[in-house]
Amino acid sequence: MLVLGLESSCDETGVALYDSEKKQLLAHSLHSQIAMHAEYGGVVPELASRDHVDRIVGLVEECVLKANIAWQDIDVIAYTQGPGLGGALLVAAGFAHGLALSLDKPLIPVHHLEGHLLSPLLSENKPQFPFVALLVSGGHTQFFKVADIGEYELLCESVDDAAGEAFDKTAKLLGLPYPGGAELSRLAAFGNDKAYTFPRPMLHSKDLNMSFSGLKTAVLTKIMELTQDTQRELSDNEIYDIAASFQAAAVEVLRKKAQKALELTGLTRLVVAGGVGANQALRAALKKLNAEVYFPELQWCTDNGAMIALAGAMHLDQREKTQSFTVKPRWSLTDINN
Ligand code: KG4
Ligand code: ZN
Repeated sequence: MLVLGLESSCDETGVALYDSEKKQLLAHSLHSQIAMHAEYGGVVPELASRDHVDRIVGLVEECVLKANIAWQDIDVIAYTQGPGLGGALLVAAGFAHGLALSLDKPLIPVHHLEGHLLSPLLSENKPQFPFVALLVSGGHTQFFKVADIGEYELLCESVDDAAGEAFDKTAKLLGLPYPGGAELSRLAAFGNDKAYTFPRPMLHSKDLNMSFSGLKTAVLTKIMELTQDTQRELSDNEIYDIAASFQAAAVEVLRKKAQKALELTGLTRLVVAGGVGANQALRAALKKLNAEVYFPELQWCTDNGAMIALAGAMHLDQREKTQSFTVKPRWSLTDINN
């Protein structure tokens, strides 16, 4: 079956074509709105929706051309139904419904986080079930026990900011443009990760939950301490050291909690997905765990259409011709079957 995947839940318009028999991605197209939102220091939902509207038709046409297929070759259309920004979600959902009607093909609504979580299955070296999944993105930091496709048990999560959010907010404090997570980690490579001691909140808590907002506040306090009296800007070296010390704290919390999640479940496989999964320091720390650790390719860490097409291919039994037109801006992965 040839699955068209459509993603527009936040600031990336993603389209992909996946062949479920060959287990092969045929083509994908992506447009990131990062440059547009950077001017405002964060995602502006209305601008995001309008840009998805402007881009989606061209990206789908480009993807069909790249895959060298005819429109009628598409067997099923998968789209992100949630969670995400309501207006942004409506774009892929609306386009999917229109195309499905015109081609007379069925639809599959996909949970965005399931897309992230399954994205390592796009690699040659695929994880077997069951596994522990660490979902680390701009909006979520959660551990799941994954027994099989569609069987997701939430083990723990961040009680406040997501890890990606903490990276982005800290990057902003350091004067880096939005979203600063990747740039912060690039600069951290030049710094000393022991220059400053930032807190590792909830590192020893009995449950597996995490907290990242205090970490960002500790960075703010340190910056004020360094600059307030002298009314000066941070030096480059101070920026590198703060970036490295912040990253070391965030990575240590995630590594420790990953270890605990593996111990608690008795599982030996860990799958890491979501934007922060691109972080090299996190990858290096998790690879040292006593477990088989799987990461998506870097291009599939942040939002894309390929993970949605793949998740759709895993749920072909759920394809439907007549579907109510709804999106779910707030939707827990544990409610995936509701
Ligand atoms: O998964 P994603 O594209 O979007 C959500 O669904 O949230 O993740 C985006 C997040 C942003 O917070 C971004 O700063 C972060 O992933 N990110 C990184 C890196 N690359 C992306 N954070 C740390 N290190 C990176 N290399
Ligand atoms: Zn995402």
